[in-house]
Amino acid sequence: MDDLRRPKHRSMVGWYDPRVLMHSAYQIAIANIFGRHSDTRLIEALASQPQNEFDYSQQAGDFWFDYVSDVGDGWNSTYAVADAIAQPTLDVVHGEVRETTSAGRVLLFGGDEVYPYPSRNEYEIRTESPYAHAFAGRARPEVYAIPGNHDWYDSLVAFSRTFCRPERGFATCKTRQTRSYFALRLPANWWLAAIDLQLGADLDEPQVQYFQKVATRMDDSARLIFCVPEPRWILEDAYPRHSNYEELSGTQFLEERVFKRKAQVFLTGDLHFYKRHENATGVQKITSGGGGAFLHPTHAPNTRQLRNGFEQRAAFPDEKTSARLAWRNFLFPFLNPKSGWLYAFLYSMSAWLASASLEAADVIDLPTALGAAMNAAIRDPLNGMWLITILAGFIFFTDTHVRSWRVLGGTFHAVLHFGAAFLVGWLALLLTVQAFDLSYGSIVQLLVSGLITVVLGAVAGSFILGVYLFVSISIFGRHSNEAFSSLRIQDYKQWVRLRIDASGALTIYAIAIDRVPRRWRAQQRNGEQTWVANDSRATPPRLIDRVVVRP
Ligand SMILES: [Fe+2]
Repeated sequence: MDDLRRPKHRSMVGWYDPRVLMHSAYQIAIANIFGRHSDTRLIEALASQPQNEFDYSQQAGDFWFDYVSDVGDGWNSTYAVADAIAQPTLDVVHGEVRETTSAGRVLLFGGDEVYPYPSRNEYEIRTESPYAHAFAGRARPEVYAIPGNHDWYDSLVAFSRTFCRPERGFATCKTRQTRSYFALRLPANWWLAAIDLQLGADLDEPQVQYFQKVATRMDDSARLIFCVPEPRWILEDAYPRHSNYEELSGTQFLEERVFKRKAQVFLTGDLHFYKRHENATGVQKITSGGGGAFLHPTHAPNTRQLRNGFEQRAAFPDEKTSARLAWRNFLFPFLNPKSGWLYAFLYSMSAWLASASLEAADVIDLPTALGAAMNAAIRDPLNGMWLITILAGFIFFTDTHVRSWRVLGGTFHAVLHFGAAFLVGWLALLLTVQAFDLSYGSIVQLLVSGLITVVLGAVAGSFILGVYLFVSISIFGRHSNEAFSSLRIQDYKQWVRLRIDASGALTIYAIAIDRVPRRWRAQQRNGEQTWVANDSRATPPRLIDRVVVRP
């Protein structure tokens, strides 16, 4: 019987909610300290049974598998993709041809399986529940996963519990891996190596040994697919001076020293869009991070031609759509209402410190009030320290690895907020003293002007951040993460479906959903409870790219 209850769900993460910001900062700091000094992968390797590659090479007929990454954010986006993946067959139109694709025998998660940070509860609600409902009453694939940075924020504890315990399974599907990396032996001598590069891009010794053992079972004609946690080919182009991208990468090391061959296909997520890059020898580097998390921009930074010889062959959403979406940053205060608390605090504290030495007579005249505020900033050590701390915060926040740009951009951004905080504070004083005729310095006047500063500061601060993000992404191609996480876009989702046919050709289908459903209806399917879309504005899955890699 139909039931109008909503599934237990989460909405898209509000990245500018001060609680999320603070908890994320705390988790990242801890993960960076403990992740690097006590590597969970070593403990996993010691504690678990030796792991071999998982063999699917004897499968008869076409072998289908699905790759999805950056899932486990809001219910609508995560479940829409999960439900499309779980459909036994899915017709896609390719030019004049309609092709029928089949649900994968194997489902691979490419990293960032939960947002904003991992815990047992969040994995269950944001990731397992949508996938369990999607597979209800349908055939279940075998599930594998590698961790992305978000999975690493608790040093992999919840990830290991979710994906590396075969006796437990994932979302009613079978799991087999016992470590955070694995290899699959696929039909037609294709091999898939899924690599865990932790937070920094480092390989641990047991992982190297594992892949060395796998490599001994590969013959000369074996062909390689790499699943990696981030699109280094894009990031090293965008941040050429970042120390992480200067050394030999973990994947290069595996290609040159372990597998002694080049991978022909790279699959990754981390950036929440679809882009395919190809070089002259036909190597495919696919970024497919549209499994549920907020959308990242495809128009900036420009990745059409990467310096390592790779050219962009496909992007979703297209650059025009992406550039148009960036304008939504002007609605920042409405899209991120909780961010207002942060600016309310910053602005009211700044105004309070600046007004401490202000005389009643100074308030009326703007230049006089500004002079007094600047005087206070220089002469009052507490005020000075407060402003320097905020300035340092904005410089740290600026997205560039060129130091001079960072200082310049951060200072400009901070000065905008200082100016706005002063104006908001001055306006509050003027209103209370002149318009409301309250006596300057009285408790009532202080409270009322404080309240005005809090409200105006929340709106002005959030709005300035929105404008700053829009300018950064649209003119400088920077802050692609911040300027789009702010928009919390649940649409433009996608995943990649792959087929190995009898000839040994690997066909890669990128499938997207432009608009995900917002409403759902409970339904029984083969005796199991599930949810089906109940939203006429939602769009069906469609093919956005297709490429064939031949032997
Ligand atoms: Fe992600």
